[in-house]
Amino acid sequence: MDQASHLRNIIKGSQVNMQDSKARVITVTSGKGGVGKSNISVNLAINLRRQGKRVVIFDADFGLANIEVIFGIVPKNNLFDLVYKNMEITEIITQGPYGVEFISGGNGVNDIINLDKNQIDYMIRMLYKLDCLADVIIIDTGAGISNSVMDFINASNEMILVTTPEPTSVTDAYAVIKAMKRRRMDMTDRKINLLVNKVNSDQDGLEVYEKLNKVCKRFLSIELNNIGFLPNDRLLEKSVIEQKPVSILYPKSSISKGFEVLADRILNETSYKEEKSKGLSSLFSNLIKIKGK
Ligand SMILES: Nc1ncnc2c1ncn2[C@@H]1O[C@H](COP(=O)(O)OP(=O)(O)OP(=O)(O)O)[C@@H](O)[C@H]1O
Ligand SMILES: [Mg+2]
Repeated sequence: MDQASHLRNIIKGSQVNMQDSKARVITVTSGKGGVGKSNISVNLAINLRRQGKRVVIFDADFGLANIEVIFGIVPKNNLFDLVYKNMEITEIITQGPYGVEFISGGNGVNDIINLDKNQIDYMIRMLYKLDCLADVIIIDTGAGISNSVMDFINASNEMILVTTPEPTSVTDAYAVIKAMKRRRMDMTDRKINLLVNKVNSDQDGLEVYEKLNKVCKRFLSIELNNIGFLPNDRLLEKSVIEQKPVSILYPKSSISKGFEVLADRILNETSYKEEKSKGLSSLFSNLIKIKGK
């Protein structure tokens, strides 16, 4: 049996019933690097937590470990310790400030291909437990259209695509959407939320959204959802240097207000409420199916 059919059979025979997973999973991604994904993941998580949600960030920017740097906390274990050392899901969750928790993805999706049936079953069962513990799981991915990032996007049904107004960043965001189309990702249950970061004014952000949306509609027949804009704020840079999330260090800054609005928007997304959350366990099952293709 080849590796692909091996993985497909594993997931087909998986014991876990994923029908009642609760956690909402939001994948944060971008075409160009350094546009603010990790800071957005962290500060969005803090604001969702302030609204009473239990939030876990999954650091899928494998090997670069952005989340721990922003929090200034080093996690003891990662997802693959869970599989290889039979740990409980709670043992790989690291506590961050304000009750926001995070998990390091370890070496990444390529390790998944080496897992056997029992290990995959165990991992999916543990992730299912996490789905029952968390309300929202935010996945911070790396930038670009590498297979690993595209696989994550393919497995997710809700994503925030981050760009800045810089033309190179917008072009690279378009490249991500084009790569989704090229991979024939099913767009029916999928929503691309465009977030324009580092804007000088809302007008600035709106222009970026409208331009990109127009091109996506015309050439890819894809409509983007405008999830909002975040201001360019020097205090965010300062907070990164101090290794404390800006929403905690400078709660009254314009960028922190922007994160509050973003969290409200995400919680009030009407179209989302009608959907059933599929959870991280379901995302990983999809990921394994995709890797097995
Ligand atoms: N709204 C903002 N205002 C000012 N500076 C910002 C803003 N957003 C991001 N930055 C700057 O950009 C830097 C990179 O941010 P961040 O690490 O969150 O990006 P990233 O997209 O996760 O990067 P990578 O692709 O390397 O993972 C920050 O350290 C900060 O200096
Ligand atoms: Mg990052």
